Amino acid sequence: MTRTDVVDLTPEQMEKAYLEYRRACYDIVYRNCLERGVFDMLKTPATVEEFGGRMGVVPGKLPVAKLLLDALVKYGAVERTGVDTPRYAAVPGGPAPAPFDTDLIFLATGKSSVEELMHSENYAGLFNALTTEDNPVSATFDADHLPLWEEVLQAPFYRYSRVQAVREIGSTGPHLLDLACGPGFGLLELAEQAPDGPDTTVLGVEISPDFVVSAGQRATGDPRIRVVRGDLEKPQTFLQEGYFDGAMIVGAYHFLRDPAPLWRTAARLLRPGGTFCVAYVLSQVGTYDQEIMDLRFALRRPRSYQPTRQDVLDQAAAAGMELGREFGLGAWRWYSFTRK
Ligand SMILES: C[S@@+](CC[C@H](N)C(=O)[O-])C[C@H]1O[C@@H](n2cnc3c(N)ncnc32)[C@H](O)[C@@H]1O
Repeated sequence: MTRTDVVDLTPEQMEKAYLEYRRACYDIVYRNCLERGVFDMLKTPATVEEFGGRMGVVPGKLPVAKLLLDALVKYGAVERTGVDTPRYAAVPGGPAPAPFDTDLIFLATGKSSVEELMHSENYAGLFNALTTEDNPVSATFDADHLPLWEEVLQAPFYRYSRVQAVREIGSTGPHLLDLACGPGFGLLELAEQAPDGPDTTVLGVEISPDFVVSAGQRATGDPRIRVVRGDLEKPQTFLQEGYFDGAMIVGAYHFLRDPAPLWRTAARLLRPGGTFCVAYVLSQVGTYDQEIMDLRFALRRPRSYQPTRQDVLDQAAAAGMELGREFGLGAWRWYSFTRK
């Protein structure tokens, strides 16, 4: 199956592929731990503090060491005993071997083996960060990291969630809004889906000046697309009330420290009956990938603020939005709401 077919999978099919990819991520962390002698350090049970001492983890990063141990528990490489003061010990012989379904991994990532994945998912930065005060694990939204983001935002499992949002709002009418549009892939995809008429407008709002420039360049030649700089944690006072038929925010909700202004903006700018798609939200939902995502984002900058499903639904209700459809790729939740 080619990469362009991925967006036609059902959410259940895509989630199956995505979760197999995350199983491979657990395995990569496990292999890193083997190489670094982590399981030798856990031959006798250790608290997080004792493990931190054995590994040389700097005190401020003990919570991340705990996330590492919890990820190893999830993968079956370590067992945890005790509730108030948990202790961790290596599982003798390691996790039960289970071959990877490389077809599923290919569907999710476009890469055909765990070895190939290891080039981009080596977790080395995270391991190194545990033992130094510095924080080399960072992917800020600026020109220096633009190539990295361009790759991430086009990864099949990510693109899947964005294209589902584009399809959800693309036929609601001629006025479409992409909030936190990043370097503009969603703007082009929306322009392709939007009704073909003189009134069509696709507007992107984005906080990063570098990404505003990149999105503008990507949309050059399509006069229907506009990009403006804006912070979604503040009211967006430009534009008239009820102008938009559909709006989406993809892969950005979990970066907002306070999502309330976003909901007010969406409620104000959408017409009654308009659609608001909140897609690819890193959430606290306890799915199989939760521990690996928690670990991965623990040192990542900018920070993420992971809502529960109920947090999102409460915000939506307060903004006068009604839930239509939802699905999840593991901890990455996707919602579509109707503005009442
Ligand atoms: C992972 S990228 C997603 C980009 C795009 N939505 C996509 O799916 O291709 C997250 C984007 O959210 C933007 N962002 C984060 N906080 C923001 C804020 N407060 N206001 C506007 N944009 C924000 C970032 O600059 C970045 O471009």
